[in-house]
Amino acid sequence: MAKVLVSDSVDEAGIKILSQVAQVDIKTGLSEDELTAIIPEYDALMIRSGTKVTEKVIQAADNLKIIGRAGVGVDNVHVASATRKGIVVVNSPEGNTIAAAEHALAMMLSLSRHIPDANQSVKGGKWDRKSYIGSEVYKKTLGVVGLGKIGSHVAKVGKAMGMKILAYDPFISQERANQLGCTLVDLDILFSESDYITLHIPKTKETANLINAQSLAKMKPHARIINCARGGIIDEDALYETLKEGKIGGAALDVFASEPLGESKLRELGNNIILTPHLGASTAEAQVNVAIDVAEQIRDVLLGLPARSA
Ligand code: NAD
Ligand code: MLT
Repeated sequence: MAKVLVSDSVDEAGIKILSQVAQVDIKTGLSEDELTAIIPEYDALMIRSGTKVTEKVIQAADNLKIIGRAGVGVDNVHVASATRKGIVVVNSPEGNTIAAAEHALAMMLSLSRHIPDANQSVKGGKWDRKSYIGSEVYKKTLGVVGLGKIGSHVAKVGKAMGMKILAYDPFISQERANQLGCTLVDLDILFSESDYITLHIPKTKETANLINAQSLAKMKPHARIINCARGGIIDEDALYETLKEGKIGGAALDVFASEPLGESKLRELGNNIILTPHLGASTAEAQVNVAIDVAEQIRDVLLGLPARSA
């Protein structure tokens, strides 16, 4: 019988599908060396964002046929090495779209109404209504960087809340932007005219530190920036300095250059930053969607059927 290793926590719905065709071992929290030591036993590997499938792991993976990432990106997999070794890499491009979009929207509203700090204040025994005067998003400008699946949903909801939507995405047509009620602009205009900026682009060589001291300096003094896409798209040092000096209204981050977030100056900032531990895809619905989507692809490959590669 084929053997599948599940090395991050994935929904039971996926495990059930895999168990129909394979022996499934769930071993989470493995170090690179531990994973490298056991990977030769396995025909398939199922992961989320926690497991780093490095070149070293792949070199040792002599029986591996498929790696399935129960999520959107495959940036924690050394895809080039996998391809060289004939290992298929698959993912779930749509299973957590709504979850990630809703997390970004929740971040926007949490920033505008100071919800995390007001909550902490009440739980701390206070009844302070003066410190938490918010601002409405209605009639404000939302700048969406990346008008793909998640960015489009955020734009539609923003529009429904009465926001004006600017978008920057060099790969999207004017026609598509018009359909979504967005005005396509260049990144500088988006940064200088938006009240809220939300990032929905992949992390690539082109987008690493795309948002840096220069772009942050273009933001309006009250504007806020949200990153529920990938760590490393915003230069964290530049963001820290910008927030510390009070040059922008705030930031909300779900993703970090290095995860899990270790010691970081970002943790020292006050109520102008909201930090969540990569929760964008963490809804019950999304976890079922991505687990089923990826488990079905792994099952098919183990049964000798063609794969849909990431
Ligand atoms: P998508 O592929 O549908 O959309 C990405 C968009 O970014 C595309 O329209 C593309 O044209 C655009 N883009 C690419 N390079 C760009 C650039 N240099 N400048 C501007 N636009 C650029 O992807 P998606 O499903 O919408 O996901 C967006 C991001 O969200 C990905 O990085 C994904 O990994 C991340 N994500 C995070 C979580 C989370 O848990 N926080 C969950 C799901 C997805
Ligand atoms: C994804 O790419 O789908 C997300 O980062 C979610 C995750 O892996 O938890």
